[in-house]
Amino acid sequence: MAPIQLANSTDTSRFTVRPLVSSDFQALQGLEAALWKDDLTGELCPHYLRLCTELYADWCFVALEGDQAVGYVLNFPNGKVNYCATLAVLPEYQKTRVNYLLLRAMVKKLLEEDMDECRFLVEPNNHDARSVHQALGARVVSEVHDYYRKGDLRLWSVIDKGDLEKLRGRYTRLRLVS
Ligand SMILES: CC(C)(COP(=O)(O)OP(=O)(O)OC[C@H]1O[C@@H](n2cnc3c(N)ncnc32)[C@H](O)[C@@H]1OP(=O)(O)O)[C@@H](O)C(=O)NCCC(=O)NCCS
Repeated sequence: MAPIQLANSTDTSRFTVRPLVSSDFQALQGLEAALWKDDLTGELCPHYLRLCTELYADWCFVALEGDQAVGYVLNFPNGKVNYCATLAVLPEYQKTRVNYLLLRAMVKKLLEEDMDECRFLVEPNNHDARSVHQALGARVVSEVHDYYRKGDLRLWSVIDKGDLEKLRGRYTRLRLVS
């Protein structure tokens, strides 16, 4: 008899991650509402989401369980510098390591495009996001005040070419890039 495989909470084989396509628009709106409805800064507007699905689709990735979108990472390259604008996973899918798959898709793209830098904007008390950025080697380089509203403090953190080359070594060993 074949061994029974038990699904565990960090078994990522049930997820797929792929670049956005035009028809992901509604799923993105659903993720935005589920994740940011109660956030002070609020949800991304439809125009911004269409920018992702139409102009930056190759740089933005969605994670799916079956047909359901459970997380996403939105990136905007400017020359050789990438701005990672959002990395988010539905609360019930946090701690499942699906965020690792999203990051992996993003890093692979950064390496394939031979980018020089990747920047993240984060709230100082968002420890989960900061841990994820730090795991990639990111360092805080500046703080910005009154970003979305008076008193809104954000931190810019950055991974540079050296960090990307370290990631290239790791990804090459794992055969995630050639
Ligand atoms: C940010 C977010 C995607 C992280 O996903 P998560 O499933 O909650 O992340 P985890 O709990 O697995 O990650 C946090 C821990 O795992 C580690 N980790 C996460 N991803 C990692 C990676 N790719 N490589 C190595 N370590 C990683 C971190 O070191 C961290 O460890 P620690 O805090 O115990 O030291 C998720 O919390 C989220 O969607 N938050 C709401 C949206 C948000 O605020 N997004 C960020 C701003 S856009």
